[in-house]
Amino acid sequence: MNDDNSRLIADRFRNDPRVAQAKALLAETLREYSGSLTEVRSANPQLAEAYAVQLARLTEARGAAPYFPYIASGIGNGPWVELADGSVKLDFIGGIGVHGMGHSHEQMLDAAIDGALEDTVMQGNLQQNRPSIEICERLLAMANCCGSDLGHCLLSTSGAMANENALKIAFHARRPADRIIAFTNCFAGRSLALAALTDRPSYRSGLPETILVDYLPFYDPAKPGESTQAAVDRLQELLARYPGRHAAFWAEPIAGEGGYVAGSPEFFKTLLKPIREAGILTVFDEVQSFGRTTAPLAYQSFDLDRYVDIVTIGKITQVCATLYRKQLQPTAPILSQTFTGASASIATGQRMLDQLASAGCFGVDGRNQRNHDHFVSGLQSLAQRYPGQVQGPYGKGMMIALTPGDGSYETANRWVRELYDAGLICFLCGGNPYRIRFLPPPAITTPLHIDQAIAIIDRMLQTSTSTPAR
Ligand SMILES: Cc1ncc(COP(=O)(O)O)c(C=O)c1O
Repeated sequence: MNDDNSRLIADRFRNDPRVAQAKALLAETLREYSGSLTEVRSANPQLAEAYAVQLARLTEARGAAPYFPYIASGIGNGPWVELADGSVKLDFIGGIGVHGMGHSHEQMLDAAIDGALEDTVMQGNLQQNRPSIEICERLLAMANCCGSDLGHCLLSTSGAMANENALKIAFHARRPADRIIAFTNCFAGRSLALAALTDRPSYRSGLPETILVDYLPFYDPAKPGESTQAAVDRLQELLARYPGRHAAFWAEPIAGEGGYVAGSPEFFKTLLKPIREAGILTVFDEVQSFGRTTAPLAYQSFDLDRYVDIVTIGKITQVCATLYRKQLQPTAPILSQTFTGASASIATGQRMLDQLASAGCFGVDGRNQRNHDHFVSGLQSLAQRYPGQVQGPYGKGMMIALTPGDGSYETANRWVRELYDAGLICFLCGGNPYRIRFLPPPAITTPLHIDQAIAIIDRMLQTSTSTPAR
């Protein structure tokens, strides 16, 4: 049998030279158009009316105005995005950490076409194609590179669903334990159970309490010893009060919505020892932190590999996942979904993993760390020039933050809006104090992009009406 006949029709289709030609043509056309987007541009007055109508329609359809008047036109160039009003902005929030290659990247287009060439738009419980297997195996290999022992991977369409699956796995494995230990200020997603876990009362307003959660105070980098001791003391109190009742300890290695404050290896190790001894499972929520520190998973950068029982990932991976130890495989059919992800999400997720690696994002002197250092030195120089206006801690890796002025909601909100108008997209986090966060696309951000962001903040501070200092 000749070689060509032995291959699958699908492989012959994908390898048909016409597919490569079509992809090359699209990439060339994209380059031609997106290449001109390299700086901030103001809105086109001729598009103002149509844009206002679109915003009004969006507000009406979803029942609330979007936080930013952001409607993208459908093209960008790395961190630059063109909006439907003709403006061009430097997008350092990326849909809250999703667009790891920025906008309109050729590699994402190429991978999305691969996804579109699959026979179905979606993959799921009864519809698995080969890329589902590949991405699961890759994520497990990445997670297990340095001492973790995660045996299974379950894909899902949102970080919330990945976290719901993690909760189910943990409760099921430790039944009848019915409590979770988490950190104050944590955020885990928007389902009913995760609204109970998330430490934001307003996010569960009017919702029934579905799971029982006990909170530990998080690490304070300004008081490492004191804050670690406070967390350990509280943990001991909880373990004594509810023996055998905690199924899992839930942690974001770097508090995300909580304010971009990173834990430390010592802090986590001090807590994880008694947690393990008590038979409580450790779940790391890396939905926001994946791909942004010196290792694919932030827990790896903290040398916590051997402690992890379950980890959830999402956002930058384009498709979300719950990775867990083999021993935790549920013995009842509690995990299943019609959709585990779009074929294009799975294909672009795989390409994102390639690109994070090939861009050299990881390693102690990798791109993420170098860009972090560059960003922080820019913020520190602003802090010197505008005393009391720009304060740390400045986050970790490609999760950068600052406390603006007095750290009040009013100040932080005004900064975000003024920066948006000036062409830099960022967002709020924290609450006490409120902070400004940046999630630059790790695989393509350059020091020049960071300098452009710092210059916009600088101009905003020069012209802004008084920002009360802290
Ligand atoms: C740490 C963390 N966990 C979970 C989620 C929920 O993810 P999703 O919005 O995709 O459901 C988020 C979203 O911001 C997050 O930051």
